[in-house]
Amino acid sequence: MQRDFPFVDLCREWSREAGALIGPQARQAFFRERLPDLLRDGARWRAVLLALARGAGGGGETIFETEVVLYRDPARLFSLRIYLFGPGDHTPVHDHSSWGVSGPAFGELEVVRYRPAAEAGRLLALPPQRLRPGQIECTPALEEGIHRTGSPGPGATLMVSVYGTPQRRLYLQFYDPEGGPPRRVYPPRLKRKRLAARMLAEWDFAGRAACLERNSV
Ligand SMILES: [Fe+2]
Repeated sequence: MQRDFPFVDLCREWSREAGALIGPQARQAFFRERLPDLLRDGARWRAVLLALARGAGGGGETIFETEVVLYRDPARLFSLRIYLFGPGDHTPVHDHSSWGVSGPAFGELEVVRYRPAAEAGRLLALPPQRLRPGQIECTPALEEGIHRTGSPGPGATLMVSVYGTPQRRLYLQFYDPEGGPPRRVYPPRLKRKRLAARMLAEWDFAGRAACLERNSV
C-alpha cells in the first residue's frame, strides 16, 4: 500500500503544484525539475528498499513484474513508480500510454530507444544511454517513445519514474524489433475483467458454450 512508503506528503504537495499548471508539457517540465533531487535522496530510497525487503506491496496496478506504484494522484495527473532490475535485467521493448520522466536512484540505468526501420514493421535500436543516480531522461507517449530500460550490469538498478495522465488506452504495447505486430499488455486486474466478461458472453449459466448452443439450434 502507498502508506508503506514515505512519499504521500511529498506527492500530495506535487499534486497541488502540478495541478495548478496547465497542460502536459508544463507538468512534464515540473517533474523534470523535481525528480533529480528526489533521486539523490538515498536515505529515502533505502527506506523504500527496507520496506520491500520486509514484504511491503505496491498501491496499484502494474504491468511489469518488479514495478511498484508508490503514489497515484487521485485526479490521475501523475503516478510515481519504481522498477527493480537485477544485474543485466531489462524490460521488453515497449511504449507507454503517457509521457514519462525516469532516472536511477541506485545503480546505473540503461535506456535504449527505438525508431521505425526502413523495412516495414521492424525497429532500429539507437545507441544506448547510460544514466547515473540523479540523471533523468524523458519518454514521449505512445509509439514515439518506444524503448527498453534496465541494468547494464554488473550491479542491480533501482529506477524511479513519474508518468503523466494516460492517453486514450488502458494498455502498453510490447514490440519485437525484428517485426510483427505489437502485443497489447493489460494490467492483470483489467485483463481478468476483460476475460471474465468474454467468458460470460461465451458460456451460459450451466457452463454450456453459448456458440455451440446457437450452432445446435
Ligand atoms: Fe518504460
